[in-house]
Amino acid sequence: MARTPSRPVDGDSAVDAVADAASSGRPGPCLQIRAFRPGDTEAVVALWRDCGLVRPWNDPYRDIDRKMTTQPELFLVGTVADGGADGPVVASAMAGYDGHRGWLYYLAVAPAHRRLDHGRALIAQVEGLLLARGCPKLSLQVRSGNAAVIDFYRRLGYGQDEVVSLGKRLIPDD
Ligand SMILES: CC(C)(COP(=O)(O)OP(=O)(O)OC[C@H]1O[C@@H](n2cnc3c(N)ncnc32)[C@H](O)[C@@H]1OP(=O)(O)O)[C@@H](O)C(=O)NCCC(=O)NCCS
Repeated sequence: MARTPSRPVDGDSAVDAVADAASSGRPGPCLQIRAFRPGDTEAVVALWRDCGLVRPWNDPYRDIDRKMTTQPELFLVGTVADGGADGPVVASAMAGYDGHRGWLYYLAVAPAHRRLDHGRALIAQVEGLLLARGCPKLSLQVRSGNAAVIDFYRRLGYGQDEVVSLGKRLIPDD
């Protein structure tokens, strides 16, 4: 599959990496993928709300603050190119590598910018960054009420693991 960001990614090189949606043959502006910056906070939280990713038990601001303390370079945003300047944030992906698995959270593409391969480009960028760290597998969870997105992940080569996902809250946000 050739529809991936054209530049190799690792660490800070993600900041300016460009995913060219046009290379997919689909219309649409380029998505520029870079590391999250604190100034993106309000736009990213608004994006997550628009995409239905915010839940009462997850304070998005705290989630961002925590991510800033751990592998912040794996927290990506996608902006729409605006004459060479940094455009508005229209996409995000928050990844991490714990030494055994890579994990992905908050994958989001703004509703008006979907089906332009932006999600695919973000996943490719995340996979490149994790591979560069020697990560052997990327895992992710899909909320049970969000079955529609499973087809998206299947298109990108992700399969369903035969696991039951368990969790225990250590720090309540609400
Ligand atoms: C899931 C999401 C990120 C996809 O972003 P996107 O930019 O529209 O996806 P792409 O254009 O890169 O699509 C890549 C492939 O997946 C397919 N696809 C995308 N969304 C799909 C959907 N809802 N159902 C079925 N297939 C889908 C595309 O057709 C394309 O396949 P193809 O090129 O092989 O034909 C976006 O719909 C979104 O933000 N959803 C809300 C937030 C969310 O649920 N995030 C995931 C949390 S686990």
